[in-house]
Amino acid sequence: MRRMPLTEGLTAVAVIGAGAMGAGIAQVAAQAGHEVHLVDAAEGAAATARDTLGKTLDRLVGKGKLTAEESAGILDRIIIGPAADGALKELPPVGLAIEAVVENLGVKHEIFATLDEHQDESTVLATNTSSLDVGAIAGGLGTPERVIGLHFFNPPPLMKLVEVVRTTQSSGEILDDAMELMRRWGKTPVLCTSTPGFIVNRVARPFYGEAQRMLEAEVADAATLDLALREHGGFRMGPFELTDLIGQDVNFAVGNSVWHQTDRDPRYEPVNLHRHLVEQGRLGRKTGRGWFTYDDSGQAVDADPDPARVAELVGGPIETDPVARTIAMLVNEGVDLVRRGEASAEDVDTAMKLGTNYPKGPHEWLAEIGAATIVGQLEALDAAFPGGRYRASSALQEQI
Ligand SMILES: NC(=O)c1ccc[n+]([C@@H]2O[C@H](COP(=O)([O-])OP(=O)(O)OC[C@H]3O[C@@H](n4cnc5c(N)ncnc54)[C@H](O)[C@@H]3O)[C@@H](O)[C@H]2O)c1
Repeated sequence: MRRMPLTEGLTAVAVIGAGAMGAGIAQVAAQAGHEVHLVDAAEGAAATARDTLGKTLDRLVGKGKLTAEESAGILDRIIIGPAADGALKELPPVGLAIEAVVENLGVKHEIFATLDEHQDESTVLATNTSSLDVGAIAGGLGTPERVIGLHFFNPPPLMKLVEVVRTTQSSGEILDDAMELMRRWGKTPVLCTSTPGFIVNRVARPFYGEAQRMLEAEVADAATLDLALREHGGFRMGPFELTDLIGQDVNFAVGNSVWHQTDRDPRYEPVNLHRHLVEQGRLGRKTGRGWFTYDDSGQAVDADPDPARVAELVGGPIETDPVARTIAMLVNEGVDLVRRGEASAEDVDTAMKLGTNYPKGPHEWLAEIGAATIVGQLEALDAAFPGGRYRASSALQEQI
């Protein structure tokens, strides 16, 4: 297959799906100067996305962050495709197509099969999937080497991180080009395999899981655990307030998906308390109630942390120290991902700091705390809660 590098002469980009992510990705590509063909199966969805972007750009012009000409140029470059069946077949030739439709393997697979058939062999086909195996999306295509993941974070115009995902068949040259293209779009790309959850959604699991287990064991209430992680861990938000913002259903689905995709590895086993919260429809801010209850102004009315309890717990036994326990598990996840060859240590740290706003990357914490201490903490946790969840990565064991 002969192809032009993505970074040379890429003019047209297609974005399939004009929801929260597709609309944002279209904006990023249009701001980078590309002609963007935006299509969505729902009648009017792509046009609505463009109208909404127009209002956002007007505000940026009002604030002096963009000129009126720049704003008009960005909007002019976004071309709305028809919503009808067969719209994908009618797309003009593009150098890069980014799919951001509903998280459903069958739907995505069909889109990739159509693109594979109707776009030139040189067109790079990317998916923004959060949880599906990119290799499975590429499965059965005539040219799977041109399929990669481009996992943007929400909202794409503001979030710098993009996880560039390689399958076992992705072309190295295309991956290099995609990394460079993302830099030119103003993003910070990291490279990883199509491992469940990629980097961020995999390594972050214990941030939620450890706190939930401590809540279940009645070590402290949710607001107190949040306070400990904010004040002593340097996290911008605690796991309970953060998941109330993200949506408990969304957070639960990600964790559950990683658990199933890892053959139910106890490291990712969902916590019953969390499952019940979701089953009760307590999805967080969007339903007025999650871990906390919110009034009409969006204030949590029952988040009443106990600073004295935080002082008792932090620095105490690892089983009830929310900060040390969470960080030990984040380090374990990060180094294990690298050990399995899924990503580099540098990319893991970059991803966690940019994708989740953590104050440090797992390897930075490791350097600070030391492998011997972390392994000791994990062994104590494993003794207290046997079953494999707290098994230390061989990568840590080898450092002591
Ligand atoms: N929302 C996030 O925070 C986030 C972050 C990263 C990645 N993702 C991933 O991005 C993708 C899109 O997520 P979203 O939050 O934008 O979803 P969304 O529900 O906001 O938008 C999905 C859009 O796809 C359209 N669509 C569905 N089937 C289609 C088809 N066959 N052809 C064309 N359009 C179709 C829908 O009409 C809808 O407008 C998912 O794979 C999701 O996992 C989401």
